[in-house]
Amino acid sequence: MNKFKNVYVVNHPLCCHNLSIIRNKETNAEVFRNAIRRITYLLFYKATEDLELETVNIDTPLEKCEVKMLRSGKEIIIAPILRAGLIFSDVANEIMPFATVRHIGMYRDEDTLTPVWYYNKIPIEFENPEDKIILILDPMLATGNSAVDAIKLFTAKNVPQNNIRFVSLISAPEGLEKVTNNFGEVKIITASIDNCLNEHGYIRPGLGDAGDRIFNTVEN
Ligand code: URA
Repeated sequence: MNKFKNVYVVNHPLCCHNLSIIRNKETNAEVFRNAIRRITYLLFYKATEDLELETVNIDTPLEKCEVKMLRSGKEIIIAPILRAGLIFSDVANEIMPFATVRHIGMYRDEDTLTPVWYYNKIPIEFENPEDKIILILDPMLATGNSAVDAIKLFTAKNVPQNNIRFVSLISAPEGLEKVTNNFGEVKIITASIDNCLNEHGYIRPGLGDAGDRIFNTVEN
């Protein structure tokens, strides 16, 4: 349990183990990416556990059979926030090959800690917004500024908040406060709620700059 409504912390032992690997500053980019990949499956298990099913009649090689499949007419949209969110995309595509991928490009202005937009693949109009399930992907939910802006992209097109999930590896309490105050019905799935942010908006203890560690661009 945690104090935030609609925030789910995936406390699975394999999440904890792999989180410890990625927190370690000695972990190289290859090992870092592979450990995140293993955590991603567990996060998506939680993020997708309430997808709606419908009953369908099929024939097995032996007989007729009633089976359950994902409800038709619902569109799953995976929205990775560039660039670090790309680390979740492969697993998302693997387990939901029918999903649409709509990238969101934002970087953080290091002085103001506010997001700066540079790319947005969200259509101007969404038909049947109530039938869209949105999974916004960003490994670090820090100040919550980019999370709020990304969520707004979809709520502004009338996607109901409870159709939106935000998937992160590590979250800061400050960011969770901000997102849950603005969008109380959006579900947040994370592997850890860390202690706090530092003066530069980095999560403590965290893992440093996720994008730099994923893409091996850490400058020493
Ligand atoms: N983005 C990161 O990559 N790391 C943090 O700690 C905060 C934001």
